[in-house]
Amino acid sequence: MDKKQTEKIKQRYNRISIVFDLMDHMIRDQWRENLLKKAYGETLEVGVGTGTNLKYYNDQTNVTGIDFSPNMLQKAKQKVNQLSGHFELLEMDAQNLKFNDDTFDTVVSTCVFCSVPDPIRGLKEIRRVTKPTGQIIMLEHMRSDVEWVGKIMDILNPIGLSIIGANINRRTMDNIEVAGLKITQQEQLMSSIMRRIKLSPNKK
Ligand SMILES: C[S@@+](CC[C@H](N)C(=O)[O-])C[C@H]1O[C@@H](n2cnc3c(N)ncnc32)[C@H](O)[C@@H]1O
Repeated sequence: MDKKQTEKIKQRYNRISIVFDLMDHMIRDQWRENLLKKAYGETLEVGVGTGTNLKYYNDQTNVTGIDFSPNMLQKAKQKVNQLSGHFELLEMDAQNLKFNDDTFDTVVSTCVFCSVPDPIRGLKEIRRVTKPTGQIIMLEHMRSDVEWVGKIMDILNPIGLSIIGANINRRTMDNIEVAGLKITQQEQLMSSIMRRIKLSPNKK
């Protein structure tokens, strides 16, 4: 894991935390709602950010949200104060989760693996902490499968990376497989760029 790069991306999210809710409209509310109603039991949300998803969890779900940006988490804490439900928010790096193996029934990520500096390491970590019977549910944007669109995304990628800390050209479906997770469902929401994905931790 590249500590310098991790620090750099964390600082970018700290900086944009003030305006994040105003500028972030990539995921439609309906997509979040449809994803999060599938969460059950002990649930981990990685990269919880400013807590936009928190209002969509049902009251029976025990949600632990982690993020490496304290400023993003601060915004999420303000939202938790307005909600009923079981929430714990912790400052933590998705590449180095402080949870035991097989802890969670559900792990959630929405637009996170575009910015985790070492995405394969982060994906391996969520596999490790998911119970063998558990599920991983995601809404993630990634490099287009349409080759010419993908090439444009490669060219534009440094701009988004330097301003926000997010990569628009990650090959997340490949990364998921390299990390040992099994894709059980996937749905394309904006051509192949945004996907709703369900994964099994693929443990015996
Ligand atoms: C684009 S924001 C998405 C926030 C939220 N999931 C949402 O849908 O609104 C990405 C979030 O992932 C967090 N993040 C990126 N890499 C991380 C890492 N290695 N560990 C923990 N959080 C990370 C960032 O701090 C940021 O809050």
